[in-house]
Amino acid sequence: MAALRTQVGIIGAGPAGLLLSHLLHLTGIDSIVIESQTRQHVEERIRAGVLEQGTVDLLIEAGVGDRLEREGLVHHGVWLRFAGRSHHIDLTGLTGGKSITVYSQHEVVKDLIAARLSAGGQILFGAAEASVHDIDGTRPTICFRRDGAEHELACDFIAGCDGFHGVSRTSIPSGVLSAYERIYPFAWLGILAEAPPASDELIYARHERGFALFSMRSPKLTRLYLQCAPDEDIANWPDDRIWQELHARLEDQGGWRLAEGPVLQKGVTGMRSFVVEPMQHGRLFLAGDAAHIVPPTGAKGLNLAVADIRVLARAFAEFYAGEGTERLERYSETCLRRVWKVQRFSWWMTSMLHRFAEHDDFQRHMQLAELDYVAGSRAAATALAENYVGLPMEPAGL
Ligand code: APR
Ligand code: PHB
Repeated sequence: MAALRTQVGIIGAGPAGLLLSHLLHLTGIDSIVIESQTRQHVEERIRAGVLEQGTVDLLIEAGVGDRLEREGLVHHGVWLRFAGRSHHIDLTGLTGGKSITVYSQHEVVKDLIAARLSAGGQILFGAAEASVHDIDGTRPTICFRRDGAEHELACDFIAGCDGFHGVSRTSIPSGVLSAYERIYPFAWLGILAEAPPASDELIYARHERGFALFSMRSPKLTRLYLQCAPDEDIANWPDDRIWQELHARLEDQGGWRLAEGPVLQKGVTGMRSFVVEPMQHGRLFLAGDAAHIVPPTGAKGLNLAVADIRVLARAFAEFYAGEGTERLERYSETCLRRVWKVQRFSWWMTSMLHRFAEHDDFQRHMQLAELDYVAGSRAAATALAENYVGLPMEPAGL
């Protein structure tokens, strides 16, 4: 068994694990990242792509925002489309100058991996069968297999950044965690198309045929989603059927038309809201999707992971600076306050914009009235805008 030693052992090279390793490096704290997949896999894994103001500011402050600033698409508003009409939400005007940036999650991952490796950081890709041990003691370990050999990584703390299906959360003894979950009775069929985006801002559409979302990746790439059945078989969706449905759900009476193009990638994603409490047990700290999942309607998954990591990095910095464990002890409580607010916003957007088969006409009118209120009330539009650009992160600054 090859023995390794570090201060913080991190499981998972997603945005949470990589950003933590980078922020710890900036404060002189050692870490090693264990990742089951290959570098290519994590760098090419297509996920969402909307960054809150606070996420953008943090990545720039942390010195990993150059490409984001060059290639990210800054948006000052979003569109709500329902009952054939379009309504603009002025994000920047309603939030005192904040905006969102469209920049793919896998590009953020690429930037963080490049920064870690160029700083001599260790990311052990292809680490299989990871397991977590002695988290109740003062010398927890992570065991894993790599290149045909067994390895044991001894550390002071373990950061479980291994997503919903990782080993970290499940290694916490039963009875310790409380889980809260809502599984939605629909999914999203998403496509990436080589088509010039017909709108320069995102469009969230509530339609009798179901929800649809117009987004983008670049001036050449459009990203589109439509509501489908939770167990939808993508084989039933030839490209022309997808386009037909997107035209029907996204186009309005004002003459806006969707531009088509070759479909480069398509897939179906399930939708759930999930939170575990607490987000820490002994020397194991959960962050990002390992502790919580949001439905994609609010574009919050990545941003919530970044918010957790900001709190955790600050808490480790305090500990290793010999300033005590107060922030570590308050980590879970601090994160969960924001997690639940973001869960509420994501659930609200999902409830307001999707077609629920079990809804009767009264409930459908309630949905439309809610959308009409948001579109017509500065107060309600401001509430949406301040959640969409990102609620304040705790604590401010790095
Ligand atoms: N051992 C090692 N690595 C693992 C294991 C394991 N047993 N299980 C999972 N991993 C790795 C995955 O391969 C992945 O690279 O952990 C990483 C977790 O990354 P993400 O799933 O991206 O989670 P997180 O970093 O919390 O980022 C949250 O990701 O899924 C999106 O919508 C979500 O945007 C949100 C963001
Ligand atoms: C995306 O661009 O992939 C995207 C945008 C907004 C969302 C979800 C996904 O709410």
